[in-house]
Amino acid sequence: MNKKRTVQDFIDMKRKGEKISMLTAYDASFAALIDAANIEMILVGDSLGNVLLGYDSTVPVTMEEMLHHCKAVRRGINQAFLVGDMPFMSYQVSEQEAIRNGGRFLKEAGCDAIKLEGGTEVCDTVRAIVRAGIPVMGHIGLTPQTASQLGGYKVQGRDADSARKLLQSARDLETAGAFSLVLECIPTQLSEVITSAVSIPTIGIGAGKYCDGQVLVTHDMVGMFEKFIPSFVRQYASLAAQIKKAVSDYRTEVREGTFPAEDHSFNMELDAKDLLEE
Ligand code: KIV
Repeated sequence: MNKKRTVQDFIDMKRKGEKISMLTAYDASFAALIDAANIEMILVGDSLGNVLLGYDSTVPVTMEEMLHHCKAVRRGINQAFLVGDMPFMSYQVSEQEAIRNGGRFLKEAGCDAIKLEGGTEVCDTVRAIVRAGIPVMGHIGLTPQTASQLGGYKVQGRDADSARKLLQSARDLETAGAFSLVLECIPTQLSEVITSAVSIPTIGIGAGKYCDGQVLVTHDMVGMFEKFIPSFVRQYASLAAQIKKAVSDYRTEVREGTFPAEDHSFNMELDAKDLLEE
């Protein structure tokens, strides 16, 4: 696929019942691998705070950190649609600040869209950003930036009242102009209802099989991030184990003098005595 993907492509995919695949990336080399597998959307998630930067949550992540990684990912992409995640406090203070920060993802980092967390309460902000010409992906359910207000990293929408609120949030975000919605950690039955209630694609993470697409944190699904593995993740590889073995084998061979071998060395005709006497 050489044609650049657009928001309309994802609306069409939903209409045709074609599932959308999305993964996170934080650097150019991972982005290139993901892009080459024809994944339709790449998200530079603020999960980079946990996965790459060693923070305990996504809260400390800054605009500058996000832009730095979005620029790198942009350089690795040929075909995927690139979404940049707005960090905590980059869109909450005022609509003006939200538009300015959202615009930086497109102007400075070459993103195609931004994502922000929140439901009905962020709809005025979403409307303002969309009006400024910036495509917005919503994110409801478990919203990690405000996890402490939600009682921690827990499944959301399990009782009738909160399920109704999430459905209303999805509808309000669509009305505000969001082009798609991440549904994180909500029951399968609720995400099925939400997915059929909105005409924009839903992208699930821990939200079951009825969403229009799925997203995972790449480091989780390739088994590279060992600190915490959410139960909804399927690991398609065990890269952490492979990397640890490779590194340990390297150390052994360096200590034993079996690396580097002839194949990894450069040779020349040299008379050492002549060289030392000069
Ligand atoms: O930050 C992130 O990676 C995300 C996804 C988990 C949806 O928001």
